Amino acid sequence: QTGHFTFDPGYTSTGSTESAITYIDGGKGTLLYRGYPIEQLADKSSFLEVAYLLLKGELPSKEEFDVFSDTVTRHTMLHQQMVKFFEGFRRDAHPMAIVCGAVGAMSAFYHDSTDITDPEQRTIASHRLIAKIPTIVAWAYKYSIGQPFVYPRNDLDYASNFLRMCFAVPAEDYEVSPTIAKAMDRIFTLHADHEQNASTSTVRLAGSSHANPFACIAAGVASLWGPAHGGANEACLQMLREIGTVDRIPEFVARAKDKSDPFRLMGFGHRVYKNFDPRATVMQQTAKEVLAELGVANNPTLQVAQELERIALEDEYFIEKKLYPNVDFYSGIILDAIGFPTEMFTAIFALARTVGWTSQWAEMIEDPKQKIGRPRQLYTGATSRDYVEISKR
Ligand code: SDX
Repeated sequence: QTGHFTFDPGYTSTGSTESAITYIDGGKGTLLYRGYPIEQLADKSSFLEVAYLLLKGELPSKEEFDVFSDTVTRHTMLHQQMVKFFEGFRRDAHPMAIVCGAVGAMSAFYHDSTDITDPEQRTIASHRLIAKIPTIVAWAYKYSIGQPFVYPRNDLDYASNFLRMCFAVPAEDYEVSPTIAKAMDRIFTLHADHEQNASTSTVRLAGSSHANPFACIAAGVASLWGPAHGGANEACLQMLREIGTVDRIPEFVARAKDKSDPFRLMGFGHRVYKNFDPRATVMQQTAKEVLAELGVANNPTLQVAQELERIALEDEYFIEKKLYPNVDFYSGIILDAIGFPTEMFTAIFALARTVGWTSQWAEMIEDPKQKIGRPRQLYTGATSRDYVEISKR
């Protein structure tokens, strides 16, 4: 016999997290990083400056930024022994499986920055994570397509370095287009942090036990992988391709509304935004810029996406449920146009979110009131009962 009964476990779990990093107003479509609107940061700032802002709480002076940028740039290489770690995976491993494993393995290669009680080691771990995650993600891509690893260069900015590590080959270098690099940098900024989403909450909970920072960020990578969360960008482009042409959109919209059908419109809806996702607005504009730059403005996938958005936004079901395109709806179209396979989309999301995860982890671990996480439970199982011998069952 089961029944709801509660008892006082003797501790208070607030159930909510205090943080000064990111603010979201889901009704107004507001997203602020340390008080600065995402639209202004995406337009005027750079990902590395946003990383500094999220980590330290203030925009850097020129000198502060130069020191930070130089520190990150000079830590982009991986321990050469990690090459063998990558080579242990099957060639057809999903990039997220490799990224999750490689980030966790950093605690085996950089154990001189795993003592979370040492402020200096915490800072070094944060800088190593932000500096090395592009190399890890690029190498996961190279490994999955059977191409040699390309090493980072110190004369390139953060986004350009990542693009070159993904697309250069020993036979010929990759000329980074400024428009593409700017779009990549903006995609990183739009994905950098997002308050207490599933993967960030995972990082905080893992970190609350004082596990090393690399293990905590690896836990965040694992949580982001799910199609309901960071995996939605990969699922969204696959959905747009399955729809294929605008005349098939009504069929898929009908399926998304049919409660007996598990199909949902990928890239639509959000737990917090019940109005538009401000990141999607910037992303749509960026998609148009990138596709125009690449001479594929009439990309059929973009046409399906724009028509799907128009139809959904006029549909009473989506209006009633307050479903709008989210950050994942357009990002896949841009990444596809740049040349990434869909399997890489969530790994790129993880690259950018590493800044947010690291900032949130640091904020949690530096809080003197910090305690180990222990979410409350409402017990719905059997009430106490006596054991029954198997002969009597
Ligand atoms: C990210 O938390 C974050 O901040 C995440 C993120 C970040 O930056 O970290 O923003 C990144 O994960 C964006 C979301 C990416 N996921 C998707 O695009 C997958 C498709 N979206 C859905 O799975 C869904 O919208 C979620 C998971 C995003 C939100 O799920 P919820 O909280 O259950 O949505 P809801 O309860 O507010 O939905 C209200 C109703 C429900 O119907 P009823 O139970 O009320 O009848 O709308 C329905 C849902 O079934 N619904 C959808 C839908 N999304 C919600 N119906 C059809 N298609 C959809 N996409």
